[in-house]
Amino acid sequence: MTKKKTARAKPNPLWGGHYSQGPAAIMATINASIDIDRRLYAQDIAASKAHAAMLAAKGILSGRDAKAIANGLDKIQSEIENGAFTFTRELEDVHMNIESRLRDLIGDAAGRLHTARSRNDQVATDFRLWLRDAIDDLQFRLRDLQEALLDQAERHAATLMPGFTHLQPAQPITFGHHLMAYVEMLGRDRDRFRDCRKRVNEMPLGAAALAGTSFPIDRTMTAKALGFDRPMANSLDAVSARDFALEFLAAASTLGIHVSRLAEEIVIWCNPSFGFVKMSEAFTTGSSIMPQKRNPDAAELARAKTGRLLGAFNALSVMMKGLPLAYAKDMQEDKEQVFDAVDTLHLTLAAMAGMIRDMTPDAEAMRRALGEGFITATDLADWLVRCCDVPFRDAHHITGKIVRLAEGKTCGLADLSLAEMQSVDPRITRDVFSVLSPENAVQSRASFGGTAPALVKKAVRDARKRFL
Ligand code: ARG
Repeated sequence: MTKKKTARAKPNPLWGGHYSQGPAAIMATINASIDIDRRLYAQDIAASKAHAAMLAAKGILSGRDAKAIANGLDKIQSEIENGAFTFTRELEDVHMNIESRLRDLIGDAAGRLHTARSRNDQVATDFRLWLRDAIDDLQFRLRDLQEALLDQAERHAATLMPGFTHLQPAQPITFGHHLMAYVEMLGRDRDRFRDCRKRVNEMPLGAAALAGTSFPIDRTMTAKALGFDRPMANSLDAVSARDFALEFLAAASTLGIHVSRLAEEIVIWCNPSFGFVKMSEAFTTGSSIMPQKRNPDAAELARAKTGRLLGAFNALSVMMKGLPLAYAKDMQEDKEQVFDAVDTLHLTLAAMAGMIRDMTPDAEAMRRALGEGFITATDLADWLVRCCDVPFRDAHHITGKIVRLAEGKTCGLADLSLAEMQSVDPRITRDVFSVLSPENAVQSRASFGGTAPALVKKAVRDARKRFL
């Protein structure tokens, strides 16, 4: 049998000094990350410019070379942005694509740019710069979703709806109060991103391959130029740490979980059996077979896309687990996960904000639903505690009996006569009827954080100040 011939790719001119042949084609394919990491071009150029300026300031690079490098990098940036740049897989990644083009443009000076750095600290630096911007941008997108929720919550601060536990009617609340719960969740999500940003914003550059460099560089100067809080303190850690990305994906996953809960509620609310909200044609789709259908696809997809976020966190955790220090090529896979998570969040946050602005709450349908499930039973029990000095556990028991009575007569609590109530407990007086309406129930929930409409209105005002 003859040995199958290995297809070969072109040799890489940037590291091929002691190689006589190019890599196997499949090696080049599995190795190349350019299709993913080309998104880092602007950060790569910014970091290279800062690095070159620092090298010149420290006398490691001549002023002339530094100038040529900066001009060449600017030219490359405009080529990329005008679509005039060709990225090639032979050059593996964004760093070598840019450096190789720099050599075409300015000649030998390009070769001096890589002094006192390596792709290991370079990629970690670019990635952190990219993620820092992505986090800042996410803050605006989250703010926008909060604003959409706040506007609806303000309009519906006093719109009654059943609140659920176990998805069973529990106590009356207001629709505004319900939406405000998500404003709070998103506020914590923003906090998590803000906190994560602190650890993203430390600079690996200057760690070089893993051990630091023999050149007299000034990492603080580069860090300042790039807006980093500080250079990372340990060179091995600088090139191998990916917990900044993991932390980001954990926060993104938590946000995704919140988004999926809201999306699921929208799906439920749109179901005609609930009918709590109507979505316009703008945010629903029809069915190709059932003419009556209006499907909340955007909400379903927002719910489903959370899987990608959790998947990204999972993928990166598994990738990093057990990796010895320092850099390993495994880490090249980090960017695809983070980019996908950010893209996914852009899509779902915008769709959610769109849906929240689009939806029309149906106050009457929610009011009708309040008739189900003896929703003011807790108010009856609370009344017994307050007005008859009954211990809450006994009040709970008495109320249970009254609910059974109403159930037997297929009527609501407020439809029972005083005599019927008194047949369960003679201490009950006519005053009890004042607490049995859902209006009264929400009005009375005026403890801090409660659903009383006046509090919801205040919560909206406060939240605008806190978040917008
Ligand atoms: N493309 C690589 C990555 O994303 C850059 C670092 C390569 N380092 C190396 N030692 N081969 O991780």
